[in-house]
Amino acid sequence: NLDTPLEASNSPALRFEVFAKCSTTKARASKMHLPHYTAHTPMFMPVGTMGSIKGITTKQLEALDCHVILGNTYHLGSRPGPELLEKAGGLHKFMAWDRGLLTDSGGFQMVSLLKLANITEDGVEFENPHDGQKMMLTPEMSIGLQNAIGADIMMQLDDVVSSLTTGPRVEEAMWRSVRWLDRSIKAHKRPAEQNLFPIVQGGLDVELRTKSAQELVKRDSPGYAIGGLSGGEAKGSFWRMVSLSTDILPTNKPRYCMGVGYAEDLVVCSALGVDMYDCVFPTRTARFGNALVRTGSLCLKQGRYSTDFEPIDKNCDCPTCANYTRAYLHTTATKETTACHLITVHNIAYQMRLMLDIRQAIVEDRYPAFIRDFMRIRFGKTV
Ligand code: GUN
Repeated sequence: NLDTPLEASNSPALRFEVFAKCSTTKARASKMHLPHYTAHTPMFMPVGTMGSIKGITTKQLEALDCHVILGNTYHLGSRPGPELLEKAGGLHKFMAWDRGLLTDSGGFQMVSLLKLANITEDGVEFENPHDGQKMMLTPEMSIGLQNAIGADIMMQLDDVVSSLTTGPRVEEAMWRSVRWLDRSIKAHKRPAEQNLFPIVQGGLDVELRTKSAQELVKRDSPGYAIGGLSGGEAKGSFWRMVSLSTDILPTNKPRYCMGVGYAEDLVVCSALGVDMYDCVFPTRTARFGNALVRTGSLCLKQGRYSTDFEPIDKNCDCPTCANYTRAYLHTTATKETTACHLITVHNIAYQMRLMLDIRQAIVEDRYPAFIRDFMRIRFGKTV
């Protein structure tokens, strides 16, 4: 019965209802009522930078049944900037998107994009790429910017180290992230309209991850994220850290695994009880001419597609597959932005379809069989 949730949580700006659970894995299907939209989970959230998802419009994302998209505080903070956004009436209005919006805090982007960032207890210091000036992003500033942007979900500023880092730096970053969470909670001015999610850190260390998750749970937040993963570590360690985290995080609140977007990870992490994902992968790889399919991806720039008059996937119901052939995309992929756009549309459709299939398999309590079929098609082996 989809009307009576098995578990639920009520936060001022988020109601989460788990309405189906897999009987043999930790997978669940839920509804997440946000201020702007009710999202169905497990879900994938495409990533935008300056208020746009590269290669696709917000109207097209709507048509592809996309429920929540990501924006980045780091980019939005410098351009268009908080004053313009406030004048525009918030980012939702500015970008003509009336569904769910989530903003990342900015620290991760600076550390991963700028390499030059310098982290102190106060915040992250970096060089502004537009004018070369030194700037400091503190937890308070990040929340201030995110309050101006007005997203349904905001992320705490965290101290992120690469998942390959070992030694005392991992523990320092984990505890600093907890302290920055407390500063973020204090700085948050709109708890009735916007949700603030803490982020579990602790590298690949079982004890540090456990401690981090336990500390965050004490803060009783509307939802929780798992961060610092999917940065080149072995799949086994990545999945173990996710599983350990979901064992500690509350079962009646949403869990968000940050920066994850490969199909096999979405399938496995959903079995481990994750509800939300984001990644630049499907849109970025589209711009390189790669189309996502059930067996992996087609590199449409390869000469073999020049006379292939099939669609990318004849079972796909996206506008690109309904109208264009691999040969057309091959011919244009090597020269035209149109092909980037058309492949982006297909890749988002692929990702949304995968998440819908995952949700249906959970609701019908056949998720383990779904995983077996998925892995067989993708890796050609029986598991
Ligand atoms: N995106 C991917 N991973 C992370 C993370 O650990 N922290 C933040 N803030 N964003 C991320």
